[in-house]
Amino acid sequence: MDQPITTQKPDPELTAAQREQEESVHRALEGYYHVGKPPWDTGVTPPELVALVEGHGALPPGRALELGCGTGTNAIYLARHGWEVAAVDLIDRAVDQAREKVEAAGAGAAVRLLHGDATRLDELDAPGPFDLFFDLSCYCGIPLHRRDAYAAGLTHRAAPGARLLMFGYGPEPLDNPVPEVTSWAAGVTADELRARFAGWELLDVTPGTNSVPTFWFTLRRDA
Ligand SMILES: C[S@@+](CC[C@H](N)C(=O)[O-])C[C@H]1O[C@@H](n2cnc3c(N)ncnc32)[C@H](O)[C@@H]1O
Repeated sequence: MDQPITTQKPDPELTAAQREQEESVHRALEGYYHVGKPPWDTGVTPPELVALVEGHGALPPGRALELGCGTGTNAIYLARHGWEVAAVDLIDRAVDQAREKVEAAGAGAAVRLLHGDATRLDELDAPGPFDLFFDLSCYCGIPLHRRDAYAAGLTHRAAPGARLLMFGYGPEPLDNPVPEVTSWAAGVTADELRARFAGWELLDVTPGTNSVPTFWFTLRRDA
């Protein structure tokens, strides 16, 4: 719980408050993985990703990058459907569990797991280009001062016409039972994504079915 962020190089540009915010997010996430199975780890691939991969007008298999892959459920799903997958998570225990699941699923040749920060992709071996980015509730918890770096990292690695499918909590998850989370999870809005993802088009915003405001966003990188 109190371990420092091991994958992150010291960043002299960060203010003390920003560093503390990042460490607090890291501690909170680590806590989830250390007490057992985090609440989001359902082992079920969401229908929104299934539709993009298998539905009418499905994307042809290519290279995918999952941001905040947790224990690997969706990376394995993508690999089973012909995708070459890189998957990154900030928490070492999540990546370790993902590695075990990937091996057990026999998907080791198609899934490359990376322990690190989705806002610091230059520090990882994930050059791309990628045809699909998938983010299930990772971006919406990223501190605001790291979000431009997240967008730049994806933009830099996106193939022409690449998709980004993102699920995120809105800014007001009012019944969030974990106060430590509400203190740093700023949430995400369509306006923010439009402003931050220059060179991308926001194709679709579909509300989620949660009891608090959530959204599925689909963005497409310009061709
Ligand atoms: C809500 S969980 C979803 C996990 C997984 N996609 C799933 O469906 O089970 C969000 C994940 O994002 C990871 N995460 C949060 N911030 C991150 C960052 N800056 N870089 C990489 N992963 C991050 C967390 O550790 C967590 O595993």
